[in-house]
Amino acid sequence: MIRNLMWAFSLQCKPPKRHLPVPCCLQSTQPVAAARLPYRVKLSAGKRYAWCACGHSKKQPFCDGTHVSKAPTIQPLRFTADKDKAVMLCACKQTKGAPYCDGSHLKVIFQDLVKSIKGVFK
Ligand code: FES
Repeated sequence: MIRNLMWAFSLQCKPPKRHLPVPCCLQSTQPVAAARLPYRVKLSAGKRYAWCACGHSKKQPFCDGTHVSKAPTIQPLRFTADKDKAVMLCACKQTKGAPYCDGSHLKVIFQDLVKSIKGVFK
């Protein structure tokens, strides 16, 4: 019994690890929508960008490296702007023309609407 108590005490007294790995059940293999509408962004000619493809970044619409722990199978899309211009970058992460918005967010909004209506009539 004393051995069990010592073992339990040793478990409690271990300092927490600084960077706990995210359990694989919490990692996503599919992108999540960061928002339902696209981001309007001004791009600078010749500058390199990394568009967040997983949806977990806190610096939307750009990558902050969160995919490494939250969605390791999804990589950001790197691109270089060819000229100074304002563009609409996808936030729903369902676009077929990444990183630009192609209107797919309308489908996401519609699906959310259908889900909420089904919830009302349950
Ligand atoms: S925000 Fe994703 S397609 Fe428009």
